[in-house]
Amino acid sequence: MKIAKETTMKKNLIIGGVAAIAAAVITKSNIEKSRAIRRDFVKTRHKVLIVGATSAIAQETAKRFAEEGNDLFLVARNEANLNAVADDLRARGANKVETAVLDLNELSEHTGLLEQVTQSLGGLDIALIAHGTLGDQEASQSDFDIARQELKTNFLSIVSLLTLIANQFEAQKSGVIAVVSSVAGDRGRGSNYVYGAAKAGVTTFLQGLRNRLSKAGVTVITIKPGFVDTPMTAHIEKGPLFVGPDVIATGIYQAILNKQDVVYLPVFWFGIMSVIRHIPEGIFKRLSL
Ligand SMILES: NC(=O)c1ccc[n+]([C@@H]2O[C@H](COP(=O)([O-])OP(=O)(O)OC[C@H]3O[C@@H](n4cnc5c(N)ncnc54)[C@H](OP(=O)(O)O)[C@@H]3O)[C@@H](O)[C@H]2O)c1
Repeated sequence: MKIAKETTMKKNLIIGGVAAIAAAVITKSNIEKSRAIRRDFVKTRHKVLIVGATSAIAQETAKRFAEEGNDLFLVARNEANLNAVADDLRARGANKVETAVLDLNELSEHTGLLEQVTQSLGGLDIALIAHGTLGDQEASQSDFDIARQELKTNFLSIVSLLTLIANQFEAQKSGVIAVVSSVAGDRGRGSNYVYGAAKAGVTTFLQGLRNRLSKAGVTVITIKPGFVDTPMTAHIEKGPLFVGPDVIATGIYQAILNKQDVVYLPVFWFGIMSVIRHIPEGIFKRLSL
């Protein structure tokens, strides 16, 4: 009996040792692989379009692209803020920074905008779409014109841009599209379901687009931040789940570098939303969220 027990212990020790060595080798090779991806990404000068470039999250993300010496084209509607962002990115090392002032709800201007972007950068590799508004839910539920405006900014304007960018990237058989959606699109809540519906629409649109464009070698990334401390949430009391826009920007940059599909930022929101999505409707409707 004693000998059999000792033999089993020895076997377990050997198996444990082999597993630890294998894990170390796999981890090392993963680290080396991701270092190689980063080296290749940084070595190449990318042509990057940033829509909604004055957004706090977009500005922080743009800094990372600028610091790596990329070519940038920024679009926003506030000219003074846009110029300030562009100057900052030039100072941080961007090889080139072009700008266009546009209210993105002017959908008929989108075709001309993409032509201008492609011409002035001499092509396009990466598009980040980040504009949005967190409207007043109560106003949206009492006045459809307000709800329509919210849906236009947060859904329709993005679909319009994506239609054009997707076709261009599909034809060139390359490109990365990253769009800032939200965890708010994962489940409708009484306090912000108009915004949430727009984000759910964006998330589903991106899912379909990814399915279509993966065959052409195009990456489509859905970014789902949780609570972020930016001008958009200035009126909301801050709790422990809030993070700064720099945290989200690092996640977006990594997602683009690694050509990921869907990212929750910070990653703990994946767990939170997995629970929230699975609460039965009969219970969920009684909660005040
Ligand atoms: N903050 C959060 O907690 C949070 C969470 C999840 C997702 N998000 C998403 O993250 C993205 C960035 O938001 P943020 O947090 O960085 O907020 P932000 O700093 O308030 O940025 C929003 C940006 O959208 C621009 N914008 C709105 N409507 C526009 C229009 N019609 N045309 C052109 N630009 C327009 C704003 O321009 P102006 O400055 O000119 O108004 C502003 O630059 C949004 O899509 C938002 O829905 C934010």
